[in-house]
Amino acid sequence: MATNGITYFFIILSIAILCYRATSVKWMSQYNRSYDNEEEKEKRRTIYKDNVAYIERFNSGGYKYELGVNEFADITKYTRNFVPQKSPSVSSFKYENVKEVLDRACWAFSAVAAIEGLSFIRSGELTSLSEQHILDCTNAAVGCQGGWMDQAFEFVMNNAGLACDTYYPYQASKELCNADMTSSLAVTITGFEHVPPSNETAMVLAVANQPVAVTIDPGLFQFYMSGVLTGACGTSGAHAVAIIGYGTSEDGTKFWLGKNSWGAFWGENGFFRIERDVDVVGGMCGLALGVSYPIA
Ligand SMILES: *[C@@H]1O[C@H](CO)[C@@H](O)[C@H](O)[C@H]1NC(C)=O
Ligand SMILES: *[C@@H]1O[C@H](CO)[C@@H](O)[C@H](O)[C@H]1NC(C)=O
Repeated sequence: MATNGITYFFIILSIAILCYRATSVKWMSQYNRSYDNEEEKEKRRTIYKDNVAYIERFNSGGYKYELGVNEFADITKYTRNFVPQKSPSVSSFKYENVKEVLDRACWAFSAVAAIEGLSFIRSGELTSLSEQHILDCTNAAVGCQGGWMDQAFEFVMNNAGLACDTYYPYQASKELCNADMTSSLAVTITGFEHVPPSNETAMVLAVANQPVAVTIDPGLFQFYMSGVLTGACGTSGAHAVAIIGYGTSEDGTKFWLGKNSWGAFWGENGFFRIERDVDVVGGMCGLALGVSYPIA
């Protein structure tokens, strides 16, 4: 009997390992992931396994939001002081995925989302504007540093406009500034302003009128899938997003609706909700500390 027990144990263990390998292989093909060598692959597989276990544990905890096994599942979990461009795992494997690269200029995406919002309110037309134009023609490096949103607004203001995405598409790296864009400038702004820091009441007044660009700590973002983000978070401001709306969920939780730059596979189709009016200076993850918006 004892031998039977041990045999069953090993059969079940083997099935578990096979299943888990199968899910990690499926995940790799779903996210077009390839690794340089077997060693790297094994290392990523272990991280993937730990992350999946963490996500499953979290999701059974009855929180206001759910995590998902998304494209960041083979990256070591973000720490509180996570700074995207310095993450050691990013350089150690071929991460040719567009969405990760996009994040390296999150400030440009955040500013452009706010300008697109303003443009839509003014003209009723949704124009996709060029992050690359800002990236190439400002001094800010390619990187995700929220404070550079003001530089983005300043550029659009001084340049008398910003090109459409179709004329100046995203390249994922800083290229030579194409100054000959005069005929394809789509939208212009006359300036930008800041919402008084740490005042979510003032933020509501601004967001009721137009999307705003904010700096935020991305500590809770990595595996976010749906629901209202809440819980302990830092205030690093290492990431930048656009806040485009606000509301109250069925259980009475007040939230901000935000737009991230990590692609449509992340969060709620690229969007997220995060708790509003929390009893923390600076708001959830410091989102009320650096809030700016373009003016027409
Ligand atoms: C993987 O690549 C295919 C083909 O290029 C593409 O259609 C698909 O969207 C990619 N998947 C992800 C998650 O990027
Ligand atoms: C926050 O902003 C509102 C609206 O502008 C203002 O009435 C209020 O005095 C501000 N609160 C603080 C603490 O500054």
